[in-house]
Amino acid sequence: MTLFCHSTIPWFLLMQLILQVLQITAKVPAIIIFGDSSVDTGNNNQLSTVLKSNFKPYGRDFNDGKPTGRFSNGRVPGDFISEAFGIKPTVPAYLDPSYSIKDFATGVCFASAGTGYDNATSNVLDVMPLWKELEYYKEYQKKLRDYIGEEKADETLREALYIMSLGTNDFLENYYQFNSKRASEFTIKQYQDFLLGLAENFVKDLFNLGARKLSIGGLPPMGCLPLERMRNAFVGTGCNQEYNNVATEFNTKLEGLVVNLNKELPAAQIVHSNTYGILLNIIQMPSKYGFENAAVGCCATGMFEMGYMCNEFSPFTCADARKYVFWDSFHPTEKTSQIISDYVMRTTLATFM
Ligand SMILES: *[C@@H]1O[C@H](CO)[C@@H](O)[C@H](O)[C@H]1NC(C)=O
Repeated sequence: MTLFCHSTIPWFLLMQLILQVLQITAKVPAIIIFGDSSVDTGNNNQLSTVLKSNFKPYGRDFNDGKPTGRFSNGRVPGDFISEAFGIKPTVPAYLDPSYSIKDFATGVCFASAGTGYDNATSNVLDVMPLWKELEYYKEYQKKLRDYIGEEKADETLREALYIMSLGTNDFLENYYQFNSKRASEFTIKQYQDFLLGLAENFVKDLFNLGARKLSIGGLPPMGCLPLERMRNAFVGTGCNQEYNNVATEFNTKLEGLVVNLNKELPAAQIVHSNTYGILLNIIQMPSKYGFENAAVGCCATGMFEMGYMCNEFSPFTCADARKYVFWDSFHPTEKTSQIISDYVMRTTLATFM
């Protein structure tokens, strides 16, 4: 106490201040990811689905040029966010047999390309439904407790940042597909509300399992994905405005849900990481960000290929993915993912730094 005895500030106030500073600087010890191909780091490699990307030219700009199963030429947002929190530069996929709980203890990805909030969406391409991602998360909790002990594991699970990034497939691969059962059951507004109910339940499930810091991603301007532009081509060459409107509407509702969840679960801190605006800005003013092409993807013709159709035998694949906003017809390049990740780190996720 001699340090403080000449101070005009009472020592207990100083102690309180120090504790507060320690609390503020308490780092996120792990990043735990749920969702679809926007954040999948290789889980689909282990599934019997046709929706995969563990072959060239996927991953060609990854550190060792390895196609990991990320739907990108390089890293995806979860990787950049993990790095920004000072944890590690890549987040391993839970189903990848080359990793173990030792690797997963500081971050793990349960995402599966092609999935959605709706069970019917994951059925389309035979990928992991969201409930299955949660089952694996429960298994992970057990393994973590065995590995670092109950108390330390509970702390990690409580202080970890949980990232949810999904929803696009529910609309584009399910509701808006020809002869969709969901489109005969729900109007588009009803379907949005149905998905929001599922999102709400998922957050509550995570909360009840110990999660406290959560980021829910909104929908991107999905009418501007090259594949949707091509499907829309008979109307013009621009974005599908209807799809963009649906995304904006959904994001507004999601914002409301997040406000309510924070009220209902005061012990939790839930943010809506809305990347619609930044991505639309990049698409509308690509040169401002150093891009030359925002309309088609780099891989193959860039108009419709993704997964197995984006392969090393296409003579059309671009030479420099850094000039392209999109890597294939459905997914951003590594550079776009980095810009978007920097943006959420500066905005919504800054809360958790
Ligand atoms: C999705 O499927 C799982 C497993 O069959 C089930 O427990 C869950 O209730 C389903 N969700 C909805 C909304 O139907």
